[in-house]
Amino acid sequence: MQLGNSRPIGLFDSGVGGLTVLNAVRKILPNEHLIYLGDTARVPYGTKSALSITRYAEQALKALLRYDVKALVIACNTASAVALDALIANYPSLLVMGVVEPGAEAAVKMTSSGQIGVIATESTVNNQAYQKAILTRLPDAKIKSAACSLFVALAEEGWHEGELVEAIIKKSLNSLFDEYRYQETHVQDRIDTLVLGCTHFPALKTAISNVIGTDVSLVDSAEISAQQLVRKLQEHHLSASESQQGRVKFLVTDGPSRFARVAKHFYNEPVDVEQVELIDIQHFG
Ligand code: DGL
Repeated sequence: MQLGNSRPIGLFDSGVGGLTVLNAVRKILPNEHLIYLGDTARVPYGTKSALSITRYAEQALKALLRYDVKALVIACNTASAVALDALIANYPSLLVMGVVEPGAEAAVKMTSSGQIGVIATESTVNNQAYQKAILTRLPDAKIKSAACSLFVALAEEGWHEGELVEAIIKKSLNSLFDEYRYQETHVQDRIDTLVLGCTHFPALKTAISNVIGTDVSLVDSAEISAQQLVRKLQEHHLSASESQQGRVKFLVTDGPSRFARVAKHFYNEPVDVEQVELIDIQHFG
């Protein structure tokens, strides 16, 4: 019988958004111990400079290394877009993966017209990580993108539906649809696939579909990221034993009670405030 690796897997995001990835990982890897770090003192990441985001990501990684993680999932598109290469280069012995490449893979599988929309934070859009990742796989793809930083605040506040939310979605997505014609399927170059390029955005799925129509496929990279993680753990012989019962621990850099409260909207299991530990990561370089 092969012995499993019982060390935990670390995941991090600026706040609660990455819990959408944690859900998918937990579902597909119930035997793994998981440590989720929400850098809630510094959310949002999406409007910060590349320099700051890279520093935050490195601090999160160092904090998780203290828990002896065997792998790191950057459960944040912004940090994946901006900091993944630096983390891989600086920590070659750690298995590190992001969510942008899996998201691009899912989009390319899903589109039939090759007209793909990407919505993400300002930093992710400016960094063009999705464009590059999609074009590598589908060189003829036509990609339009829009920064929707406000969606992060809506998601964190638990404002996931309603007239006001849909009005904000309409305004934020207008550059992806000609002259505000969101649901007119005959419009030339209409996107058939929309990448939710921020882990907070799946919370707004229903409202987004109400605005743009249910015929546009929405890509949430959580599930495909979890599948990629399974493959990578196997390749590196890091998988936990099947007899292990996976546990989840939460770390935050601010407000455990707010985190536990907001987590309800994102995480499929109850989060008790007692399970959430406050840590300081800013002293890590
Ligand atoms: N959830 C993160 C992402 O996927 C970051 C959102 C933010 O902090 O701006 O991009």
